[in-house]
Amino acid sequence: MKLELRGITKRFGDFTANDRIDLLVESGTVHALLGENGAGKSTLMNVLFGLYDADEGEVLLNDEPVVFAGPGDAMAAGIGMVHQHFMLVHPFTVAENVMLGHEDVTGPAKLLDLEAARAKVREISERFNFNVDPDAVIEDLPVGAQQRVEIIKALSRDASVLILDEPTAVLTPQETDELLGIVRDLRDAGTAVVLITHKLREVKAVADTITVIRRGKVVGTAEPTASQEELASLMVGRAVTMRVDKDEAKPGETMLSVDGLTVVDEAGIVQLDGVSFDVKAGEILAIAGVQGNGQTELTEALLGIVPSDAGSATLDGEVITGKAIKDILMSGLGFVPEDRTEDGIVAPMTIANNLILDIHDRKPYSRGGVLQPKVIAEEARKHVEQFDVRATSIEQTTGSLSGGNQQKVVLARELSRPLKLLIASNPTRGLDVGSIEFVHKRIVAERDGGAAVIIVSAELDEVVALADRIAVMYHGRIVGIVPPDTDRDTLGLMMAGAHDEEEAA
Ligand SMILES: Nc1ncnc2c1ncn2[C@@H]1O[C@H](COP(=O)(O)OP(=O)(O)O)[C@@H](O)[C@H]1O
Ligand SMILES: [Mg+2]
Repeated sequence: MKLELRGITKRFGDFTANDRIDLLVESGTVHALLGENGAGKSTLMNVLFGLYDADEGEVLLNDEPVVFAGPGDAMAAGIGMVHQHFMLVHPFTVAENVMLGHEDVTGPAKLLDLEAARAKVREISERFNFNVDPDAVIEDLPVGAQQRVEIIKALSRDASVLILDEPTAVLTPQETDELLGIVRDLRDAGTAVVLITHKLREVKAVADTITVIRRGKVVGTAEPTASQEELASLMVGRAVTMRVDKDEAKPGETMLSVDGLTVVDEAGIVQLDGVSFDVKAGEILAIAGVQGNGQTELTEALLGIVPSDAGSATLDGEVITGKAIKDILMSGLGFVPEDRTEDGIVAPMTIANNLILDIHDRKPYSRGGVLQPKVIAEEARKHVEQFDVRATSIEQTTGSLSGGNQQKVVLARELSRPLKLLIASNPTRGLDVGSIEFVHKRIVAERDGGAAVIIVSAELDEVVALADRIAVMYHGRIVGIVPPDTDRDTLGLMMAGAHDEEEAA
């Protein structure tokens, strides 16, 4: 089996997401497609899987041009894809899900009944040590097992090419190692695996061939023996350091004290379960955890975005629980949200106006109910310069900036008032490395200026680089608070809840 992409170009309007990309995928190899967030990896694979039509270029299967009008065609040709978001029906069993996946399959691979589906799941699970029970209900399975069900779905359709799109984003470090083991086994059994990732560690661990794309273009190929630094500079286009330069923290008084904070969602499920911790002035507490373990609820409860059902938070001696968001922000809390396009900026508004979002009605921006455009522009220019926002003018709409520059606008706004506490949620997600360094520096500067800082991050590397202390969350609880030099295995076990269960046992 040989699958080839030649000169694939895919445009969205006048934006070119894939620019004349060539890629060759062969049986029995792992081909890593490496690139930063937004490089165009998913777009390319969606073209390959028949989800998008390419504007130019062709796909060849064993040297014959093929056209996939939809995923059904791609699957019939032996291509399987595991998306970033799983497509499983939660109340159904593994075997039922596998059978459902055969609705549009034709030919000998088609599974006709549940018995056949169960047998198929058992066979694949045993062959690759997946340890998946055909009768288990999806919603009872951990994320790593759900992902293996997606892989089984693809293999049950006789996929000889398997595309995994950022498969480790939702996994703990241990689950990641297990998955990489499975990828090796699949390769050894003759499958062509395309591993899409921006994580260098994974590429080095399993790839036979590496193609690096940047801004929609192939910028090079590399051998797995290349160093992480070489791969990183290929990926981002310049030399990068993985470290954050910072001095030892000099923690002062307790700035934030959280006591038994609890959030129950509308369905009655406890999302945040009696969380207690302190953060001192001048220190960074990083919250680690696989996404979806209560981190979002914690920040939202602290900010008053969601009401808390029990417990309290005290900022500099004053209880903030139960107050309005605006009052909490004005009492000295800065917030860099998880989703900057949704919660951080108003895209159609100018940079100048985004910089005064919550304070436009105050002095000096407004006097006697009248906006002061000169003052606003002056302040905006100052911030744009200080935070190195790359824009043509302060009148440019914020939505037209790159992700990194949008994030700088958010930081400029949030960090330009005196803060007691900064909460930053995945502050560098989707940013290029240059912007990441900048954001990290500003966060450390805020700490050194005496603010208490909470960073929530799904990237363990970021947690370790920034933290003075690390709190690990699992199932809505803090399972431990540990120093930043704690080894990754221990952190990984905590992220998987192992620590928690030991305590409970
Ligand atoms: N359906 C779409 N419409 C418009 N732009 C898109 C669409 N899908 C992706 N893009 C843009 O194309 C670029 C590449 O996206 P994507 O392929 O998802 O990147 P990656 O998977 O490497 O993170 C991004 O700038 C993204 O905003
Ligand atoms: Mg993607």
